Amino acid sequence: MSILQIPGHPKPTPREVTLEEVRAVVGDCHLCPLGETRTNLVFGVGNPHARVVFVGEGPGRNEDLQGEPFVGAAGQKLNGLLAEAGLRREDIYIANVVKCRPPGNRNPKPEEIEVCAPFLREQIRSIWPDVIVCLGNFATQFVLKTDQGVTRLRGRFHRTGHFLVVPTFHPAATIYHPDWLDDLRSDMQMLGAWLAEHPAGE
Ligand code: URA
Repeated sequence: MSILQIPGHPKPTPREVTLEEVRAVVGDCHLCPLGETRTNLVFGVGNPHARVVFVGEGPGRNEDLQGEPFVGAAGQKLNGLLAEAGLRREDIYIANVVKCRPPGNRNPKPEEIEVCAPFLREQIRSIWPDVIVCLGNFATQFVLKTDQGVTRLRGRFHRTGHFLVVPTFHPAATIYHPDWLDDLRSDMQMLGAWLAEHPAGE
């Protein structure tokens, strides 16, 4: 059931829920222990009517301090790749699977994802994009409901319900695996080409 669904009321349809309403429900969330250690909850940022939603894993140190996703080194890398693919940051929306920083940048735990990911689901329902880009394994496995890793899934479009899904490497991962950068770049180019070939509303 939708987190915003009131018993006895009809299920919200796409875009009936605004991002402000979702933000209000998230509030000062303490549903998991990450709420105790965060500096700021990182809800998400961008165009509420974006055609593309990017999903990361969870906030890092800079994101935790600033309250915005992808503002650190990974964000710089992402901005460059977006520009190369003909996309502007103000055209997209970016959020994470978990909204609070896992201490020391450890992986989010399954129970943290379980309580937090419904917020992401509602953000996506509100924006109702054409495409969801999953940056890394956590986003990919949550969105595509798969155990497979991004290495096997990247390089092509997938579909879940209404949404096309582009699984690709996390920009931060290319810092340790520079050979993945070409694949990430090629996935972004694939996305840019698809958007150009499929103008909004067609
Ligand atoms: N990595 C992520 O997955 N998300 C951020 O917001 C920043 C870095």
